[in-house]
Amino acid sequence: MTASTETIASTLLRWYDSHARDLPWRNPPGAPLPGDPDWPYRVWLSEVMLQQTTVAAVKPYYEKFLKRWPSVGDLAAAEEADVMAEWAGLGYYSRARNLHACARQVIELGGFPSEEAELRKLPGVGRYIAAAVASIAFGKHAVVVDANVERIVSRLFSIEIPLPKGREQITIRSAEITPRRRAGDFAQAQMDLGSTLCATRNPKCLLCPLSGHCQARQSGEPERYPMKAPKKAKPLRKGTAWWIERHGSAGKEVWLETRPGKGMLGGMRALPDDGWSASGDGGGEAPITGETENLGLVRHTFTHVSLELSVVRIVAASEPSGEGQWWPLCEIEQAGLPTLFAKAARLALAGS
Ligand code: ADE
Repeated sequence: MTASTETIASTLLRWYDSHARDLPWRNPPGAPLPGDPDWPYRVWLSEVMLQQTTVAAVKPYYEKFLKRWPSVGDLAAAEEADVMAEWAGLGYYSRARNLHACARQVIELGGFPSEEAELRKLPGVGRYIAAAVASIAFGKHAVVVDANVERIVSRLFSIEIPLPKGREQITIRSAEITPRRRAGDFAQAQMDLGSTLCATRNPKCLLCPLSGHCQARQSGEPERYPMKAPKKAKPLRKGTAWWIERHGSAGKEVWLETRPGKGMLGGMRALPDDGWSASGDGGGEAPITGETENLGLVRHTFTHVSLELSVVRIVAASEPSGEGQWWPLCEIEQAGLPTLFAKAARLALAGS
């Protein structure tokens, strides 16, 4: 660390001491690590949820999960289907499958490992989560690089290499400014700075504690950073999902399936569809014949593809083929439908 990089760390930590957001998974700035055995579990759970999702969206899920499964042992003992259903709406569902598998592995190991390299061996734990858990939960020196850090560091040092290639240089620079002590607080300080002041658009440089060190600020064009390689357009897929209804003994019911464990929305409860996710252009048939009614289109964007899903109502006169279950419409909220199918359900329910 040079004098300048050391000042960056101490200045940012001082700012964090008085500006840290009060978040349910957080230890107050500078406080000793909580001694209770579930602390690493809470940090890991929050970081898995936060990896591709905003703080505002994560908060209610984090609280729901902790209430239902207060320790990693409780989560390991849960049914995978219950974990998937509780995750519904958060997206990136492989995270939920890995979460459950990871909890089971942690129980076999007798607890969370504290070293980054050991954490990396757990299901769903990549470079980012391993560094976040090692530093925040265990107080280890680890370099945490998320999108906030990429933005802050690329601006501090006006890094001209576009992402994703630029990540290597950003990681090197980030390691230079990460302090030996309080690396977890330092990471979270960057997350707070990135979400409140060093924003993608209209950064509030006048209020920023690091503006005196920031080369992008001196250049007058902080928004140029981080540079990004042009995004490839997402391919568009089209498919059909069927809203199959009947009048059951307890009122109207809809036919729901559970998707296979691997692949898009794997393990999630779903409407039957024509196989759009596997083949790209669907083409499969409905699991039942009957009079059809077009309910409209649902659009949804996934990481690699955009989807236009036609939703078609069929009133069942017999039992659909394949595996599935009749679900009472008055309990549809509890089905744990992922957002795509929740949108389709909204369409069907609006027209019924
Ligand atoms: N995003 C990811 N991890 C976070 C954390 N610990 N605090 C705030 N935002 C985050």
